[in-house]
Amino acid sequence: MNTDKVNIIENKLIVLHADAEKDIYRMGKGMVRSIFRPIQPKDFEHAYLPISKKQGQTLRQLIIDNKCKHVIEFGTSFGISTIYLADAVRQTGGEVITTELLESKAKKAQLNIEDAGLDDFVEIRTGDAMLTLKDHNTPVDFLFLDGWKDLYLPLFKMLESQFHSATLIYADNMDMADTQDLTDYLNANKESYSYQLLHNGKAYLISKTT
Ligand SMILES: C[S@@+](CC[C@H](N)C(=O)[O-])C[C@H]1O[C@@H](n2cnc3c(N)ncnc32)[C@H](O)[C@@H]1O
Repeated sequence: MNTDKVNIIENKLIVLHADAEKDIYRMGKGMVRSIFRPIQPKDFEHAYLPISKKQGQTLRQLIIDNKCKHVIEFGTSFGISTIYLADAVRQTGGEVITTELLESKAKKAQLNIEDAGLDDFVEIRTGDAMLTLKDHNTPVDFLFLDGWKDLYLPLFKMLESQFHSATLIYADNMDMADTQDLTDYLNANKESYSYQLLHNGKAYLISKTT
């Protein structure tokens, strides 16, 4: 293992997680803007809204343990989770395709991923994931769902034809109301999928059963 490389990645994650702790103020501003209309991604243009360190470590380990190579992420933000995913595929010999709606966030994520020395393992697609992943026609080993919750089920269904018997899907924020349709879909398709709750029910780890 290249210790220098690992230190660069871990140091970058420390800096990013520390900055993300200030999100509470940035989110407050977003919430104020959205008092008179539905919340929009643009309201959180300056907020990371990241996974926790523990979740990042879990994601990384799942990908390594299951030797996943082809990883897709919905919701890059500033790239904290992408760095964990990229560090994992660095070790499995794979790649991450990640997609972010807001151009300013995608650009910042690109810089963060470059700082971590992981840009060779990541392709960032800027735009609506329903469009940027629309023509995806190669197998998906690992899907990480962390964008806007009302798109979890449509995106899941859009990529479903590329799932295989060992595909894993990690869906964050499954305790939020907008994700209920994905839970209903999984429960209605128990012959195809099973899931376990992670992080006290905050996330689902979904496996193929057939
Ligand atoms: C919860 S944040 C992602 C956090 C990131 N995964 C992390 O842990 O560092 C959700 C992100 O999804 C993006 N997003 C929302 N709707 C999207 C869409 N339709 N396509 C792509 N990205 C979208 C938002 O702009 C936001 O940056």
